[in-house]
Amino acid sequence: MQAQGAGKTPVLKQTSSMRAIPERMEMSDSRGSGYDAEKLRREVRRGYAAIARSGGSCCSSSSCCGSTDAGTAMESLGYRREDLAVLPDGANMGLSCGNPLALASLKPGEVVLDLGSGGGMDVFLAARSIGPAGRAIGVDMTAEMVSKARAAMETFRAASGLDNVEFRLGEIENLPVADASVDVVISNCVINLSTDKPRVWREIARVLKPGGRAVVSDPALLRPLPDSLRMSLEAYVGCVAGAVTVEETRDAATAAGLNVTDLRLNSSYSLLLESLADQLPGGITDMLPESTGPSDFVVGLDITAVKPE
Ligand SMILES: C[S@@+](CC[C@H](N)C(=O)[O-])C[C@H]1O[C@@H](n2cnc3c(N)ncnc32)[C@H](O)[C@@H]1O
Repeated sequence: MQAQGAGKTPVLKQTSSMRAIPERMEMSDSRGSGYDAEKLRREVRRGYAAIARSGGSCCSSSSCCGSTDAGTAMESLGYRREDLAVLPDGANMGLSCGNPLALASLKPGEVVLDLGSGGGMDVFLAARSIGPAGRAIGVDMTAEMVSKARAAMETFRAASGLDNVEFRLGEIENLPVADASVDVVISNCVINLSTDKPRVWREIARVLKPGGRAVVSDPALLRPLPDSLRMSLEAYVGCVAGAVTVEETRDAATAAGLNVTDLRLNSSYSLLLESLADQLPGGITDMLPESTGPSDFVVGLDITAVKPE
């Protein structure tokens, strides 16, 4: 979800290789309290492991991107075609919902950390912006995603001449990253999947250097989801049911000690959601009240927050 372009849905279609995820589980609200957090995490990991295994691109065989291929989808989010063209095969999995790099103003030599790096797209793109003196680090809790991104590193090195990328297996609630060691945290369509979002923001604040910044793209809730959707595990894994409001995200960042300097709604993401409404998994669209569409409930949010000096 990103302010300058249209958006690719973060919602995953059920893939042929994806184990059937139980449609519902006990959840008392849409924010994680009352969830069986560990079970939810396991299901999120299982869903993304299946996507990672499903081929070089999630769009190639599993059509998680519906009729929109990953390149077209990312262009609609504001990514430049020429930047996408030099990515290693499979790095763009069509799973983003924004373009945090467009707002991050990366500078040569900076250390960049991507929370939930998936196939590595934003990490590889950031690495080119920060150059040989910088470092781009991706963290993801799904081993299959980390393996996939690591496998692409050699292609990236050969194409760019850069050796400034690494991928770490870990959770964004417990970042495997030292205190005050990062200039820029980015994240693209991931924090909604966490059952402890305030803790993620505290981790962001911990790893940022004083004066460092975080640029996060994520879905945000415009109004409460219908119960059926809120309780759908598939909608949670698909980046819908775990979304919180803009205010909740701003409050979590502020409570972590960060200064929120920019908040933008991304209507183009909503447009894309609408265009893919009939392809969303798990009957998501059918669970919406008559005469409403996904964009009546979910919008893209880009938030920038700075750690005080
Ligand atoms: C929707 S995909 C987005 C991937 C990538 N940011 C992109 O734009 O292509 C979500 C990714 O976040 C990872 N993820 C979800 N929850 C996580 C958590 N709590 N800790 C670490 N990674 C997580 C998943 O494994 C998956 O790779």
